[in-house]
Amino acid sequence: MKVHRAEMVAAAASAARFPKPSAPEVAFLGRSNVGKSSLLNRLVGRRSLARTSGTPGKTRLVHWYRVEGPGRELLLVDLPGYGYAKVSRSERQRWRTLVESYLDGRPTLKGAVLLQDVRRDFSEDETLLIDWLAERDVPVIVALTKSDKLKPMRRAERVRALRRAIGLPAERAIATSAQTGAGIPELWRAIDALL
Ligand code: GTP
Ligand code: MG
Repeated sequence: MKVHRAEMVAAAASAARFPKPSAPEVAFLGRSNVGKSSLLNRLVGRRSLARTSGTPGKTRLVHWYRVEGPGRELLLVDLPGYGYAKVSRSERQRWRTLVESYLDGRPTLKGAVLLQDVRRDFSEDETLLIDWLAERDVPVIVALTKSDKLKPMRRAERVRALRRAIGLPAERAIATSAQTGAGIPELWRAIDALL
């Protein structure tokens, strides 16, 4: 989609502060440092709309970004990353409450983009999340991130293995790079299909 305008419209640390549901929303989910904020920026073609960082656990709030294209509007939602080792039990519980209250109670949620580093295998965190979303009828797209880090042959191998591991068709499990822009048109196509 051609993006005319993109801006952050809300940020919240608890369900009580979530903005009132309006436009259709697509949520970005994944392990801390997997590249959620970077991919979001690349999708909207703004270098630093969402804060990115080499320090895992940077995004602790839910952020809403309004994206406007020709004749339409949607909200991309950057959820805080999970699985960051240096996080206390209570912090982990806080993450769970925040993310579940978002995913469970959002009438305008059209689907989720689950990010997975293409170099790594899915862990239980991802498989549990995928099952959890399926039980709630939230469609999932998997973005296999940082694809620029692998040479083409190895990348193709990894993409095949990861698709097989979760049983998703090619148009729902897409290799992406926030650095080169690879996979961005395919990801937009998959997002558009949710709306
Ligand atoms: P949290 O907010 O902590 O959950 O992290 P995040 O998932 O938002 O990750 P973020 O976008 O901040 O990126 C983490 C690091 O990975 C940064 O150093 C990025 O520059 C790097 N990175 C993200 N995407 C890519 C990519 O496609 N290719 C490469 N080479 N590096 C990337
Ligand atoms: Mg982030």
